Amino acid sequence: MTTTFHIAPLVYEPEIIAALSDLLIETVEHGGSVSFMHPLEEQVAASFWKSSINSAIAGERVVLGAFEGAYLVGSVTLLLNCPPNQPHRAEIAKMMVRVKHRGKGIGRALLKAAEEQALRRDKWLLTLDTAEEVGAAGLYEKFGFQKVGVIPDFALKPAGGLTGTVIYYKKLN
Ligand SMILES: CC(C)(COP(=O)(O)OP(=O)(O)OC[C@H]1O[C@@H](n2cnc3c(N)ncnc32)[C@H](O)[C@@H]1OP(=O)(O)O)[C@@H](O)C(=O)NCCC(=O)NCCS
Repeated sequence: MTTTFHIAPLVYEPEIIAALSDLLIETVEHGGSVSFMHPLEEQVAASFWKSSINSAIAGERVVLGAFEGAYLVGSVTLLLNCPPNQPHRAEIAKMMVRVKHRGKGIGRALLKAAEEQALRRDKWLLTLDTAEEVGAAGLYEKFGFQKVGVIPDFALKPAGGLTGTVIYYKKLN
């Protein structure tokens, strides 16, 4: 079955913060390596997203959402506030899609939209890292990201136990 969805920058609204928090909690619960440990409290998730959307309002990042109707099914963040000597670089972060909506091209569409947002701001070098175990290396490699290497024992998995992180980059032009 095909899913129709649209992608839009997210704004600071209570429903959006709640939907982002649900998405993050579910992602962590299912082993997604996105900086947090399981179980993730709703308040902690909401506090993270409030701060993230405020940072977007300040122009330091772009937080994109994928919607099926009014329902938030995925999100990705483009971090823009690189140091002054890296004005051409941005970083992909917090890529996640609701468990039931995975495998339908939403992750790919979010990445494409993030690239468009980067190019619009003359950011032509994208970097990211993803967990070696249960990460999204396959998605990034299919999207043309080049693997740089692995930092072993970089982070804890959501349920505990260390995993390495894989560093990637992509030049957009
Ligand atoms: C990673 C994630 C965002 C992918 O979202 P998705 O909507 O399922 O991805 P898509 O359906 O657009 O997949 C696009 C392609 O990448 C591949 N792919 C997606 N996730 C993959 C993964 N984790 N490992 C390997 N390949 C993957 C798909 O097979 C698909 O290939 P195809 O186009 O040849 O069919 C989703 O699995 C997720 O939320 N994971 C948990 C959080 C996480 O690990 N995020 C990454 C943090 S760096």
